[in-house]
Amino acid sequence: MKSLRIGIAGLGVVGSGVLDILVNHLERIERAGANLCVTGISARDQAKDRGVTHGPIDWYADPIELAVCDKIDVFVELIGGPEGVARHAVTAALESGKHVVTANKALLAKHGLELATLAEGAELSLCYEAAVAAGVPVIRSLRSGASACRINKLTAMLNGTCNYILSQMTHAGVSYEDALREAQQLGFAEADPSLDVGGDDAAQKLVILAMIAFDSTVEYGSFPVLGIENLTSNDIAAAGKLGYRIKLVAVAERNDDGYELRVHPALVDKHHSLAKADGADNYLIINADPLGQVSLAGPGAGQGATAAAIVADLIALSRGTGGPVFNTAAENLVTAKMLPSKTRPARFFLRLTLKDVPGAIAGISETLAEHGISIDSLIQPSVMATGDNSTNHDAMVVLATHVTTEAEMIQAANEIRQKPFALGEPSLIRIEDFS
Ligand code: HSE
Repeated sequence: MKSLRIGIAGLGVVGSGVLDILVNHLERIERAGANLCVTGISARDQAKDRGVTHGPIDWYADPIELAVCDKIDVFVELIGGPEGVARHAVTAALESGKHVVTANKALLAKHGLELATLAEGAELSLCYEAAVAAGVPVIRSLRSGASACRINKLTAMLNGTCNYILSQMTHAGVSYEDALREAQQLGFAEADPSLDVGGDDAAQKLVILAMIAFDSTVEYGSFPVLGIENLTSNDIAAAGKLGYRIKLVAVAERNDDGYELRVHPALVDKHHSLAKADGADNYLIINADPLGQVSLAGPGAGQGATAAAIVADLIALSRGTGGPVFNTAAENLVTAKMLPSKTRPARFFLRLTLKDVPGAIAGISETLAEHGISIDSLIQPSVMATGDNSTNHDAMVVLATHVTTEAEMIQAANEIRQKPFALGEPSLIRIEDFS
């Protein structure tokens, strides 16, 4: 079998992991019936010790020079970022007849259509299993396993860093700041971790999944994205008392008149398997016709999981599997019409700090009733978690609503905030129900 010659640009955590498999575990590649050979590398610092030897492999100071050189068949882009060198190098590689394997979700979310058009026009592959959920084969599952289906809904957890932080806060009582630091040390977080905790990383991944699932282009920035930065240990503790875990969810749903995409923290029933997926795990539930419901779970961040997905793409390339970059040829993708999620039915969690005075709870239920919002459960936990500036004369009231809309809920919360008995900002979080 002819060897597939590989050029790797970017030797950070993931690049070093890829090199380790390709240099030190060639028996796995051969067993899989592939013949892969790294012939070029490009990274910022040639002298840096990355814990893996790259011996006699040619070194390129300029990744674009590597992308266009005639000593490679596949360009592996692990530089990152939606613009700049990564975009130029991937474009140059495709224009000079190289297949591309990338983990760059930011690039694909913003320029996926343009790059797919380029790749398909030149009959080249653009592979990106590692860009979404790292080691969990979600791209392969949607592009192959569900390719004969009408995908109705994707419900996912797509950011390992956020899941790690929330898990540590929930189960180990670790503070938000310490948990984020641990996630960075473990190699889960982006170079700029605000992309993780702000929800953008999950949103970029959701765009990619939606483009495969809905045969449509989705504009990044065209749907609501909320991160986990404002969650407190009181929210986590209060959600737990009502029987929920808080997770950062990413949802894409097909409706009769368009699509709804959203990324935000949500309460998930603690007995649901998505709620039980902890640490850096990711989770994807696919609802499709006539397939039914399929769930995928596993490590969504980290060196090994991401490197394994990159090498799996290289093996697939060597075996000669192809097809459109998304599920539909780029020229046939249509623009998805986005529906506003604020007016769609949902249940909510509301956590309030109140002065412990007569009539406070009656005042809350009265305001909710004025907005047609019915209370499903309400508790007044006697012990507060740490972190609030409350006194012993304050009361925490936590409730879950029946179905309403986000628009009504925001208005009601704003009115409650202005009541004389209300203290501080109400915490309003959507409850994600599963049918
Ligand atoms: N920073 C990402 C995460 C890495 O935490 O999920 C994997 O894309």
